Amino acid sequence: MAIIIDGKLVAEKIRNDIKVKTEILSRERGIKPGLALLLVGNNPASEIYVNMKFKACQQLGFHSLIKRLPDDVNEHEALGIIAQWNNDSSIHGILVQLPLPKQINENRVINAISPSKDVDGFHPVNAGNLMLGLPGFVPCTPAGIMELFNHYNISLKGKHAVVIGRSNIVGKPIANLMLQKNQNANAIVTLCHSQAEDISYYTKQADIIVAAIGVANFVKADMVKDGVVIIDVGINRIDDAGTEKGYKIVGDVDYQEVSHKAAAITPVPGGVGPMTIAMLMSNTYDSASGKYAF
Ligand code: GUN
Repeated sequence: MAIIIDGKLVAEKIRNDIKVKTEILSRERGIKPGLALLLVGNNPASEIYVNMKFKACQQLGFHSLIKRLPDDVNEHEALGIIAQWNNDSSIHGILVQLPLPKQINENRVINAISPSKDVDGFHPVNAGNLMLGLPGFVPCTPAGIMELFNHYNISLKGKHAVVIGRSNIVGKPIANLMLQKNQNANAIVTLCHSQAEDISYYTKQADIIVAAIGVANFVKADMVKDGVVIIDVGINRIDDAGTEKGYKIVGDVDYQEVSHKAAAITPVPGGVGPMTIAMLMSNTYDSASGKYAF
């Protein structure tokens, strides 16, 4: 049977470490990490995520605030808030929850965040540094996946890693991280996406699969080889009359089927999900402690 990669446990360990380091930072240097969260509109999922991020800050003794703007707010106002936070020394991290309403240009908003406070790692300066193998903020979900590999001693060296999905938030950055020239990476990476004629052609060759496509139970047992390592980034809601809520959350991988063939697999929920917030906290701590010189 597969090793079940327990993201909840690893995330808790990371958060405990950050809590201890935060107390030291506060005691020795008088710095309290601060994270500002911008939530535009009323997307229910975004509301849940932002509240979870705020709560995580409180648990770690961070300074944190949520600014909520209405769905019809203009871009100028959103940019004004970011400018204010860029100049506020009590704020070390700025996070704009995505997606944004369509009248707001996502790129202009992300570009307005100071790269030195871009704890999501979405700014072109940080995305560029990642591609070049230089230090900088790394997007939280991919950073969390790398932590899971580390924690479970899963070596990527010379392995064929297949990423499904080419988003700027997960697919592209995780592909870049896995192929970095360092001892925790060095994978051979294939990045495939919706235009592939037959995705199983690629996944069947994979030693490691990172599934980030947003399609429930997309990866089936006949698409993978024995002993594959599965990282499931999907969070999909599907109807399930057997549950109290009438739905359940499943990943992009058919866990029931694939777990019998895999050497290791992340469950959904409890795999990659908890790591995202832990790494956001880690990035915010790093920003406060001045880890990166921009
Ligand atoms: N929307 C979905 N994932 C993310 C994320 O990691 N960060 C932000 N800011 N928005 C998101």
